[in-house]
Amino acid sequence: MNQKRVVLGIESSCDETSVSIVREKSASDQEILSNIVNSQIKLHEKSGGVIPEIAARSHSMVIDKLISEALSKAKIKLSQIDAVAATAGPGLLGGLIVGVVAAKTLASVIGKPFIAINHLEGHALSAKLEHEIEYPYLLLLVSGGHTEFTIINNFNNYSRIGTTLDDALGEAFDKSARVLGLKYPGGPEIEKYALQGDEEKYIFPKPIISQKNCHFSFSGLKTAVAQKVAMTKIKNKKFKYDVAASFQKTICDILEVKTKNAINEFKKIYPNKKVSIVVAGGVAANKKIRKIFFNIGEKNNYNIFFPSLYLCTDNAAMIAYAGLERLKRKKTNSLTFKPKPRWPLDKKAIFLKGKRVDA
Ligand code: KG4
Ligand code: ZN
Repeated sequence: MNQKRVVLGIESSCDETSVSIVREKSASDQEILSNIVNSQIKLHEKSGGVIPEIAARSHSMVIDKLISEALSKAKIKLSQIDAVAATAGPGLLGGLIVGVVAAKTLASVIGKPFIAINHLEGHALSAKLEHEIEYPYLLLLVSGGHTEFTIINNFNNYSRIGTTLDDALGEAFDKSARVLGLKYPGGPEIEKYALQGDEEKYIFPKPIISQKNCHFSFSGLKTAVAQKVAMTKIKNKKFKYDVAASFQKTICDILEVKTKNAINEFKKIYPNKKVSIVVAGGVAANKKIRKIFFNIGEKNNYNIFFPSLYLCTDNAAMIAYAGLERLKRKKTNSLTFKPKPRWPLDKKAIFLKGKRVDA
């Protein structure tokens, strides 16, 4: 292969606008030439959550500037781009439209293909940007909008084996942080507060923990945290540290048990394969969670992979990379492709939110 393919990626599905340029190095290696991220955290801090209209407006105000910045940082001219990829779902419709329209316009101006990327595929492949990881592997995706175990059988062949029945894990972090009066996004704040707290101080529930499946439920845990806060008169720093630490410990216990169940499922399908686990998405930035997984890996001789911290939270490098993998396989899209606010990674997966699932 003489020509190394170059893909420009755009991410705008939630509260991060990002543009990245990724270049192929060899058949199984690539480099991130630029990855510019404009976070909207400051805009959403006051409301303690993302307001879709404000998010979309902010994406539309910065997208062209970020495209120029990403090109100049990468020292790449528009004429050197081989395809333009954008997150086309799942996510907030207004934001998706901004990214998809920008990508389609750019692609048609330079006469190169447009590629619609599933945001979850971006997270699923994100660890492969830095590590050589063979298929199949077990993915735990934990972000602000999604929590699922999916077996990545191969590229574009995904089997979801577990999901959350209510809140996503990032959402549970954000909402628990909010009742404690901590800043948005709550995950990093809880992690910071937990460092100084006593994780054994409070016992919080672990919903559906004894069900031998790979599903999660976090809303009862979130409510228990809210009740503890409501019932406590003096909410000093020590109290907040202890609640944060106890909440985070409860999450780690839940993840440990449910990961064991997921590994059993993986082994049923791939009995002769060394287990590889990838943990991705914003919550995978949590150092205590990372430690729990590395311990599981060490004890059982499993491979454990996490993306670097800057690739855990939303970024366009993972979108450009997923685009590169699609371009290699000639999986490009027509300019009539419409953004999909709901777009499961595994098309066969049943929508389980709000459903009761028995063991
Ligand atoms: O993947 P992401 O950037 O956006 C979505 O696709 O949702 O994930 C954002 C989520 C937020 O809920 C945030 O609180 C959480 O990831 N998060 C963390 C940490 N850093 C970000 N949760 C726990 N610990 C962290 N260090
Ligand atoms: Zn995400």
